[in-house]
Amino acid sequence: MSWPESETDGSGALLFVNAAQVVTCAGPGRARTGAELRDAVVRNGVAVAVQGEAVVAVDAQDLLERRFPEAERVDCDGRLLTPGLVDSHTHAVFGRPRWDEQEQRALGADYMEIARRGGGIHASVRDLRERGEDELTALAAARLSRLASYGVTTVEVKSGYGLSIDSELRTLRVIARLARELPMRVVPTWLGAHEIPLEHRERAGGREEYVELLVNEMLPAVAAERLARFADVFCERGVYTPEESRRVLGAAREAGLLLKLHADELSPSGGAELAGELGATSADHLAGVSDAGIAALARAGTVATLLPGTMLFLGKTAQAPARRLVDAGVPVALATDFNPGTSPTVNFPLILTLGVSQLRLSAAEAFIAATVNGAAALALADRVGQLAPGYSADLALWDAEDLRELPYWYGDRRCLRTWTRGKTCYR
Ligand code: NIG
Ligand code: FE
Repeated sequence: MSWPESETDGSGALLFVNAAQVVTCAGPGRARTGAELRDAVVRNGVAVAVQGEAVVAVDAQDLLERRFPEAERVDCDGRLLTPGLVDSHTHAVFGRPRWDEQEQRALGADYMEIARRGGGIHASVRDLRERGEDELTALAAARLSRLASYGVTTVEVKSGYGLSIDSELRTLRVIARLARELPMRVVPTWLGAHEIPLEHRERAGGREEYVELLVNEMLPAVAAERLARFADVFCERGVYTPEESRRVLGAAREAGLLLKLHADELSPSGGAELAGELGATSADHLAGVSDAGIAALARAGTVATLLPGTMLFLGKTAQAPARRLVDAGVPVALATDFNPGTSPTVNFPLILTLGVSQLRLSAAEAFIAATVNGAAALALADRVGQLAPGYSADLALWDAEDLRELPYWYGDRRCLRTWTRGKTCYR
């Protein structure tokens, strides 16, 4: 399949040639489920033609060389060419890293216990509130550049370490600047309900007051400035209840935002059930998801975004029941959850490794979860995540010959170069 000759030939075209394998993930422009996850569509002897920001053809190399005689050649030199990775869940705007808490957990403290003592998310909130827009932008840009060097061309970034109108808006403006200034595609999410800020948590009625502030003041300000595509809530025992989450997300939907939910991360909390009920685009984490939660996600077609790096870093042995989710017909995505508390990694291929070795997905399933279904978790599956005509020219070239090498060389950085919208993103 390709577009008419007259539209595709001419100057400004790129032709990716001599790849050992081209993994296209070609197929329907929506979340993939069940058996659809098993075939990432690995092709040999094909080239990829790009015109401007879009892929225009994937076809036999000799054919495309004749069709695009003027195109600039990109010699893949016997290596692996794939769609760029889609990291659909990060908290990349933060100040100080929290390495102290890793050791506290090793010595016996629990994640939630650290939070109750005013550490955890609260520590990042105190820190972020002290920093200005320029400084936060510089910190996040450097961290996202590292993420790009691991093959990521689209990234979702959440607010959530501000927890006041002023500092949440500042965070979202930082994300908007990153979207304008970085070569990656950046998708902004408002997570004003990441925690109950301490100044509200510690007095009677403060909790209810903060939920009202989220709904009546912060959300309208976010929507008025069009600073977020998605709204997210940390629905978890000890954080937001399903009722509070429903209130915040219901209002966000009214305001025109799409929905995500941190659901059942550490224990079953009714999060997946709520995500299904609200028709959320994704429900994320799910290590503690219930059977009813799995059924609700399947019914709603909500993407289950699994974040195995988080459980690894927290030292937990539990992981989300990936196989049961796939068997139930839930579309599964993989992401880094890059954040200073529970998953300080930008190494997305390492998440593919965990997807295979811990979640027991096949390499193809893990890869589709990190591309097509990551895009679906961002409501972008009709234009991102595949190498197919009409899709955004987001590509990654790897020092590998076979797709299965990406999860195999664990912890290694095999990415050589990426392109987003047809332009160099990382090299
Ligand atoms: O996805 N669960 C909530 N949010 C993050 C952790 C945030 C933090 O500890 O700073 C997560 O795990
Ligand atoms: Fe998260």
